[in-house]
Amino acid sequence: MMTLKEKIEALKRQRNAVILAHYYTEADVQDVADFVGDSLALSQRAATTDADVILFAGVHFMGETAKILSPQKTVLMPDMAAGCSLADSCRAEDFAAFIAQHPGHTVISYVNTTAEVKALTDIVCTSSNAVQIVQSLPEDEPIIFGPDRNLGNYIKNVTGRQNMVIWDGACHVHEEFSLEKILELKKEHPTAKILSHPECKRPIILISDYVGSTAGLLHYAATDTTTDTYIVVTEPGVLHQMKKAAPDKTFIPAPPMDSTCGCNNCSYMKLVTLQKMADALEQLEPQIVIPEETRVRAEKSIRRMLEISSRLGLV
Ligand code: 13P
Ligand code: SF4
Repeated sequence: MMTLKEKIEALKRQRNAVILAHYYTEADVQDVADFVGDSLALSQRAATTDADVILFAGVHFMGETAKILSPQKTVLMPDMAAGCSLADSCRAEDFAAFIAQHPGHTVISYVNTTAEVKALTDIVCTSSNAVQIVQSLPEDEPIIFGPDRNLGNYIKNVTGRQNMVIWDGACHVHEEFSLEKILELKKEHPTAKILSHPECKRPIILISDYVGSTAGLLHYAATDTTTDTYIVVTEPGVLHQMKKAAPDKTFIPAPPMDSTCGCNNCSYMKLVTLQKMADALEQLEPQIVIPEETRVRAEKSIRRMLEISSRLGLV
């Protein structure tokens, strides 16, 4: 009898498939992946892989990004219901109306958006490169930023850009973290450093020692030598790689306001299971399909991001 892991390995070879996984997926999912990364690194991998099939262990917008960049490849999602509350907070028709209300603005969209929203966008960004992408534009350039209001306000504060209008969207996971509970944890662990994702609300950003993308948080946790305890204010899936990278350090996941709800977990990411991955590779379903006209327009905005990132050496 083959284990699920062995079955996935065998199917992967048979299909010439690559498995890309986000840091928020379950530990066993990350462990069968060929590459685990943040949104920027995953999109860079999707653009350059020579596999015939990409199995995306992540959420829908990530699979779409892979398909936009590699249209000739089969992109499989283990579960099509793996969406994103942030992407859902910005419908393309509403965003088009918002853009029409602000003529002459350069539109920068976070990668956590649908292909239709990316098709309305000039430059895509991720939490790894959002600050640098904004800074790559002239100081007085009017900018629309969507859809995450917390990331948008964070960028506005870091860059000092005044000419920036921000869409009012948010991620349900990062909105749930409780400042009070993080401060209580800090009292219990006074030497702990607070590491936060920029999708968190401003009061949490203000008390953080480091703010960055999932890959940024992981790198900081693995290389910092000033302490050995960290309060991690993002989806706790990322702790799996932190513990692997720094087994002697202590990582404490930040709790949500209601500590019984488990809502600091991204329920969409957790829909990805080994069984669904094996099924997807076996059946070559479900696949991401994007109308070609939308794909071509969305590709331009993602390619602009990748060009700027590679020019600035952001990996
Ligand atoms: P990263 O780009 O930091 O991996 O974040 C993706 C995401 O969905 C955060 O909620
Ligand atoms: Fe979307 Fe939030 Fe889940 Fe990230 S954590 S995928 S932004 S719902």
